Amino acid sequence: MREINSQNRRVSIYKITGGKKLQGAVKVAGAKNAATKEIVASLLTREKCRLGNVPRIGDIEVTLEMCKLLGSNYSWTGDGALEIENSALSSFEIPFDYTGINRIPILLLGPLLHRFGKAVVPVPGGCRIGPRPVDFHIQALQRLGASVELKDEKFIVHARKLSGNLIELPYPSVGATENIIITATLAEGTTTIKNAAVEPEVIDLISFLQSMGAIIYVDVDRKIVVEGVKELNGAAHRVINDRIEAASFASLAAVTEGDVMVEGASQDHMLTFLNYYRKVGGRFRVEEDGIHFFSAGTLTPVAMETDVHPWFMTDWQQPFAVMLTQADGLSVIHETVYENRFGYAEELKRMGAEIQLYNYCLGNKPCRFSGRDYKHSCVIKGKSLLKGREIRIPDLRAGFSYLIAAAIAEGVSEIHGVEYIERGYENIFGKFKALGADIEVCEK
Ligand code: EPU
Repeated sequence: MREINSQNRRVSIYKITGGKKLQGAVKVAGAKNAATKEIVASLLTREKCRLGNVPRIGDIEVTLEMCKLLGSNYSWTGDGALEIENSALSSFEIPFDYTGINRIPILLLGPLLHRFGKAVVPVPGGCRIGPRPVDFHIQALQRLGASVELKDEKFIVHARKLSGNLIELPYPSVGATENIIITATLAEGTTTIKNAAVEPEVIDLISFLQSMGAIIYVDVDRKIVVEGVKELNGAAHRVINDRIEAASFASLAAVTEGDVMVEGASQDHMLTFLNYYRKVGGRFRVEEDGIHFFSAGTLTPVAMETDVHPWFMTDWQQPFAVMLTQADGLSVIHETVYENRFGYAEELKRMGAEIQLYNYCLGNKPCRFSGRDYKHSCVIKGKSLLKGREIRIPDLRAGFSYLIAAAIAEGVSEIHGVEYIERGYENIFGKFKALGADIEVCEK
């Protein structure tokens, strides 16, 4: 597997001395989970596309690298401004090296089928947060007329013609919804997706595709209808801001008893987060250019569940859990999106957090993991004194939560595996520094 080499440097360790109140302003970057899909969508046209507010992070670099191998031309024309031109694609295959890095290869299938009638991509990976299958993607592409063969961990896909169909997703998967939308824009006829994901990043992708000439309706009850068009044109689009990064800095502000203005945080995209933030004792003020987050002192425990949008998103869970280690009493989190998203709790426990994992559903919502042996609920007992130590990052979102834990811990924490964080957060070191964190970087 190809190594992640984000931002062309090999930063491997952050050293953080905890205990400072973090204060100041940070500007959130564009959303990784929208920008990467929009880069993929640009492959549907031969005309030039312009994307603004694209974060300069490892995952974007890897996505652009893959597109370049297919024959894409791209250039950075300003701060976060990317021009992509795909008039002469020359390959329909993503090399095997790109397996296990991110979820993008599987999303490339639709554009490649439209351009070449065939496509070969390695099975995707992404963060180490459970098995993360792609069965919904594959079944959906088959419903649109593709034939799919899995050989030597590669999907070999053919389609002479793609035609619209009715696709009911077993679960509102973000990636599968995006894959179907991207593929259906140029398919013949109408595609209806039932039980679709309606995350803001999905809607942002739809907006970009609409600017490119697509016809896509977002109906009530998780229904999305795509009327296929003959061709798409180039377009300009500004990527939405990253609501995961915004919520992570919000948690950091509350837990360090700090005061952080998160420029570019969007209240619309964070309604559920803000409700829970308030319930736990975090305070915020919505301002013209973002949201100001601070703390009223004591934090109170809460029982909560993650779920698909518009509920509390799974990627907010990890930083929020660190916040709950500082609340006085017992909190409960029921993770209903991923079966295995508490892997990060072990390191927090070693730092002094009291977290107990359960394979029961400790919540109200029906969950796909009920009765199965997945530790997908937890009880957190606070308030715990965290102690700095050597920490290894298992995945991107866990990574940010460790930075938060280190920022409140007594003593020094050495955080390894920073490449994971830099895959998804732009200039995270600089942002922590700007807020007054005692953070150092050691290059290997
Ligand atoms: N699932 C299947 N089969 C499929 C597809 C999904 O069983 O074919 C299951 C997954 O295993 C999971 C659930 O459905 O249990 C939801 O997965 P989804 O497809 O919605 O996730 P994704 O598209 O792979 C994106 C984000 C994740 C984010 C989730 C949920 C990207 C690149 N990734 O993943 O973000 O957690 O949606 O909102 O957009 C991250 O940025 O760190 C990250 C993990």
